[in-house]
Amino acid sequence: MSRPVPTELSGCAEKLIRGRHATRAFRPDAVPADTLRAIFSLAGAAPSNSNTQPWRVEVVSGAARKRLAKALQAAHAEQRTSVDFPYSEDMYAQVHRARRSAFGAGLYGALGIGPDDRAARAAYDAQSLEFYGAPHAAFLFVHGDGAARLAADVGAYMQTLLLAMTAYGVDSCPQGLLSFYADTVRDEVGVTGGKLLVGISFGYADESAPVNRVTTERAALETTTAFHG
Ligand SMILES: Cc1cc2nc3c(=O)[nH]c(=O)nc-3n(C[C@H](O)[C@H](O)[C@H](O)COP(=O)(O)O)c2cc1C
Repeated sequence: MSRPVPTELSGCAEKLIRGRHATRAFRPDAVPADTLRAIFSLAGAAPSNSNTQPWRVEVVSGAARKRLAKALQAAHAEQRTSVDFPYSEDMYAQVHRARRSAFGAGLYGALGIGPDDRAARAAYDAQSLEFYGAPHAAFLFVHGDGAARLAADVGAYMQTLLLAMTAYGVDSCPQGLLSFYADTVRDEVGVTGGKLLVGISFGYADESAPVNRVTTERAALETTTAFHG
C-alpha cells in the first residue's frame, strides 16, 4: 500500500482534530472578547444544506452565566426538565451501548466513582450544570422546524466551532445534558423559538485536574467505514 501524500494542511489538521478533547475542569479566566469574536466568526464558515445556516448561537459569560448556572441547578433539583430533541437510551444499538459503557467506566473511574454508585454519578451530573467551572457557555439552537436534517447542519457547526476553539487555544466540552433544560435556558437568556441541540462549556483547562487526563479511543476504521469500487 502506498503512503498518503501530505499537503500543507494535513499536519495541521492531524494536530487540530486529534488535539481537541472534552475538558471537564476549567480555570475561571475569561477568554478575551477579540478571541471570542474570532472563534465564532470562524465557526460560521461551517457548511450547511443549501447554505441555510439554520443555527442561532447564544454565548453566556459573566453575570449572565452565573445566573443561568443557578437557574439550571434549581431546575435540576426540582426535576424540571424540558427537552426539544427527545432522548432515549433505546436509540443506541448494542455496539453503541458498549462504547457508552466503556466511556462511562473510564470517566467515572478517573473521578473515583464506582460503577454502582448512582448517587455519586447523579451528584457529578448536577455539578456539571455549572459548566464544569468554565467562564463561558454557548448554546446551539436549531431554527426552522428543528427536523433531523437541520439538526445535522447544526451538528456540523458544532464541530467547526469546537475546532475553531482548539485552534485559538480554548478548551471545550459539548454537554448534551444542558439541552435537558431547554426552557430554563430560553427563559434565562431571553430567547423564544428555536430548539436547543446542545450547550458547550468553554474556557481554559485546569491542567492539574485528573478528570482532564481521561482519554477516549475510537473504533477501528474498518468497523465504521467501507470503501467501494
Ligand atoms: C452532542 C454531544 C453531547 C455530549 N454531552 C456530554 C455531556 O452531557 N457531558 C459530558 O461530560 N460530555 C459530553 N460530551 C462529550 C463526549 O463524552 C466526548 O466528546 C466523547 O466521550 C469523546 O471524547 P473526546 O471529546 O475527549 O474526544 C458530549 C459530546 C457530544 C458531541
